[in-house]
Amino acid sequence: MMQTDVLIIGSGIAGLAFAIKLAERKPKTDIVLVTKADRFESNTKYAQGGIAAVMDNIHSSFESHISDTLKAGKGFSNIQTVRMVVEKAPKRLQELIAWGTPFDKTSDGKWDYGLEGGHSVARILHHKDQTGLALEKALLQQLSRFKNIQFQTEVFATDLLVQNKRCYGAQFLDKNEQSFSIQSNITYLATGGSGQVFSKTTNPLIATGDGLAMASRAGAVVEHMAFYQFHPTALVTSKNPVFLITEALRGFGAYLINHKGERFVFKHHPEGELATRDILSEAIFKEMQKTGHDHVWLDCRHLDREALRSHFPNIILQCKKHGFNLFNEPIPVAPAAHYQCGGIKVNREGKTTLHGLYANGECASTGLHGANRLASNSLLEAVVFAHEAALSVASELKQNKTTAGFSGRTGSVSKNPVTTTVKTAHLKKALQELMYRFYLNKSLEMPLKPFGAEIDSLFSEIKKLSVYHKSSQSIWELQNMAETARLIINDTLYE
Ligand code: FAD
Ligand code: SIN
Repeated sequence: MMQTDVLIIGSGIAGLAFAIKLAERKPKTDIVLVTKADRFESNTKYAQGGIAAVMDNIHSSFESHISDTLKAGKGFSNIQTVRMVVEKAPKRLQELIAWGTPFDKTSDGKWDYGLEGGHSVARILHHKDQTGLALEKALLQQLSRFKNIQFQTEVFATDLLVQNKRCYGAQFLDKNEQSFSIQSNITYLATGGSGQVFSKTTNPLIATGDGLAMASRAGAVVEHMAFYQFHPTALVTSKNPVFLITEALRGFGAYLINHKGERFVFKHHPEGELATRDILSEAIFKEMQKTGHDHVWLDCRHLDREALRSHFPNIILQCKKHGFNLFNEPIPVAPAAHYQCGGIKVNREGKTTLHGLYANGECASTGLHGANRLASNSLLEAVVFAHEAALSVASELKQNKTTAGFSGRTGSVSKNPVTTTVKTAHLKKALQELMYRFYLNKSLEMPLKPFGAEIDSLFSEIKKLSVYHKSSQSIWELQNMAETARLIINDTLYE
């Protein structure tokens, strides 16, 4: 058993930014940062479009960013939270720049703002079409400055240690699937989203809803799970995850066309290709149903080739790898699961409803996104809340010097030598397909009630498997995905 002052689970933007912020303030505090994968692997690494922020009030204003965010959230956002995030954004972005994030500039030295759906003006800072990779590199570089941060990779958190509504750390499996625990005064979940719950997603394999499921099992309040966001334009391939085609490409002028070559989205919304994601995904699903095809097309043929090459080099490369030349032909796209708008409920300091437990990033529900996240507001939310949480944790640590007093059982795992790989893979596929059908039915306004019984039955099959195999990461992940799926369906059906 290990002990530390602060335990951070996750090395995407929410985990790294918090670790840096806290270590700057508290150089003598012991911080342990863990991730189940390598240092880089996360949703953050794949972010394309960028970070929305009002960097000058010539291009944009706080009021217009606030109003665009609220409009996208359809009345479910918390206005005070939206205002806080938007108004604190410029300072947090200046820090990211000081930490070495290379946001693009135009030839005359101004910010090269990108435009995405739902934004009334261009206000998105980016690094070409690989903003997330640039951010991860800069943050990991900064992190290496701090001697009080111990970084452990390939360590999988299974459950939180909770007694009397207080969190005392977490239980883990190491890469040999041996169980151990880390006890801490403060535990901070930054475990990201859950796109892998669906059979088509832009999210990498790590996005299995682990933190959300752990917090929910431990009794933390989870909210707004019905609001799962699909991204309208993922490249149609047979693999999962599917490759995202950034919304910034539509902001740059790309059109959505149907099989007759018609631009069909204006029939659904006056903002056409730049309407918000929920509207576009629904319009595309309806077009797919009408035509019987599994995709529509994204057309870039009319765009300036040199400008495309300089802004979207990775998209051009990835399309080419899949056999598409976007200069000469439209590319096949369809909606895919992208972002969990709901999550573990937190206040404006990032505190969950359990003492000693914080959450931030895609696993958390801060009140910013409401029913539908505005493009490029996620990375922003994570850096703003990392700062707020660091201030709060720094002051909590000052008041409370005692190390955790957990007296419950830790470290028990049941081992079963029977290999269940085939069964796990089969149940995972069934779950992912069920969830995709559920979302499709929701978009096409078809009956959803039968999904309640379907998910319950699949959930109990998965639960049976997990009871006997507590030392297998893949079974824990499957169980977490099933719990997340159930929260999504139940919140949709019964809230
Ligand atoms: P993540 O970056 O996903 O990090 C989660 C971390 O937790 C990982 O290190 C993971 O290994 C670790 N972890 C998870 N479970 C466990 C466990 N059980 N034990 C130990 N470690 C665990 N948003 C924007 O604002 N702008 C964009 O341009 C943008 N583009 C996107 C493009 C793509 C393709 C995708 C998938 C998302 C995009 N998003 C974008 C969304 C945004 O990237 C994510 O919401 C954000 O990066 C989430 O950050 P995070 O730190 O919360 O989680
Ligand atoms: C994209 O680049 O289209 C994704 C942006 C986001 O998820 O905010």
